[in-house]
Amino acid sequence: MTNFDERAKDWDSDPKKVERARVLAEAIRAALPLKPKMSALEYGCATGLLSFFLRDDFAHILLADISDGMLDVLADKIVDAGISNMTPTRMDLTSDPPTLSRFDMVYSLLVLHHIRNTDKIIERFYKILHPGGWLVIADLDAEDGTFHTDGTTDVHLGFERESLQKQVEAVGFTNIRFSTVFVIHKNDREYPVFMLVAQKN
Ligand SMILES: C[S@@+](CC[C@H](N)C(=O)[O-])C[C@H]1O[C@@H](n2cnc3c(N)ncnc32)[C@H](O)[C@@H]1O
Repeated sequence: MTNFDERAKDWDSDPKKVERARVLAEAIRAALPLKPKMSALEYGCATGLLSFFLRDDFAHILLADISDGMLDVLADKIVDAGISNMTPTRMDLTSDPPTLSRFDMVYSLLVLHHIRNTDKIIERFYKILHPGGWLVIADLDAEDGTFHTDGTTDVHLGFERESLQKQVEAVGFTNIRFSTVFVIHKNDREYPVFMLVAQKN
């Protein structure tokens, strides 16, 4: 059982996590031309907080994670709410064979810093988007290693926007822009979170 499996049942009881998801959903809506026929992939969805806020903005959302604990909680939430346009799935794009599915948008919140090979995942995001499709990545700006206090190791200490922009450009994304979507207050410190938006050619 992973750290995320153990935390799954209590994940939604933290109002700060819910609020972050709500704020990012609003920022996505404000930044991009969403249309009701679009399909989306949320990568690293956990219990689906972000996609629950976006569920009326897409025809269908595939919600992917590698934590069975998170996916179990998510599946129950979808059934309880009677939602028909959200599908949870266990997926690791860093190791699974390439999927044939294509999406109009891929978005993720606080996931990239958990993924060791960021070049590979960005390339996979590019491949699974339709031409003209959008990538949204929200994650920590570069931090000093104090963000994770729960023993989580093997993570990136946030990201320098300039170098992430180069990585994203290198696989072919254009129209790249950054904004600060919210700031996490923790350990008497402030950890800004950026939203990167990029478009597939
Ligand atoms: C910090 S949590 C964020 C969850 C959610 N986006 C939120 O903000 O509530 C990171 C999530 O990424 C998932 N994750 C980590 N590595 C992953 C991978 N390689 N592929 C898919 N999901 C992954 C974890 O299981 C966890 O649910």
